[in-house]
Amino acid sequence: MLLFFLFLLLLLVATVLCSFPHLNPSIAASTSHSSTEARMEASKSEIQAWEYNSTDENEKLAHKYHPNRAIPLSHVHGLGILTWKLDVDNWESDTELKNIRSDRGYKYSEVITVSREAMVDFDARVKGFFKEHMHSQEESRLILDGSGYWDIRDYDDKWIRFYVQKGDLVVLPPGMYHRFTLDTNDYIKALLLFTENPVRTQHQRSDDSAARKLYVEKYLLQQRVKAQ
Ligand SMILES: [Fe+2]
Repeated sequence: MLLFFLFLLLLLVATVLCSFPHLNPSIAASTSHSSTEARMEASKSEIQAWEYNSTDENEKLAHKYHPNRAIPLSHVHGLGILTWKLDVDNWESDTELKNIRSDRGYKYSEVITVSREAMVDFDARVKGFFKEHMHSQEESRLILDGSGYWDIRDYDDKWIRFYVQKGDLVVLPPGMYHRFTLDTNDYIKALLLFTENPVRTQHQRSDDSAARKLYVEKYLLQQRVKAQ
């Protein structure tokens, strides 16, 4: 009889946890993960990525090899980057953006315009973005207008460059080494999204930081094994 009651109790607990996933962190995490993937797939992001050709040319040029060494978007995703394509003409009322913000817990946001007209210290700021760095939080940016390039480090430390323009929402994971530059149009307007109080501290490369260790464990080791 006791065993029967224990069984009933376990059944009840399991039913409650499945009905209220937020009570069970593992179920909540997988639900959030799968909805993120589903939303990404549905949005049909078509960001172009390629192996960065390191030359002395202006970093605002494309820096492609000839012929171009294209990198599949699936590889960029495998390094932990998330991408969506959104309709940003009415971004403040866009339902899909609201859903993504809710899924990922973005509580704070601000709009930034990077252009010679909008910034007194434009050249210094843009040079600063292009210094290799990482963050302890994710970097989430929705491009409202204009365009630019992100460079991210591959599993073997080579640079991968990808191009973003109006409507691209990109999330870089914490601990990923990266840099950013405008293209030769010298203009981008973006919505910055944050889960916690807005912090934009740029940390230099550091293999010892907790965020970096987590990133290597979660993404880079798998990519290195896959490449062997
Ligand atoms: Fe950054």
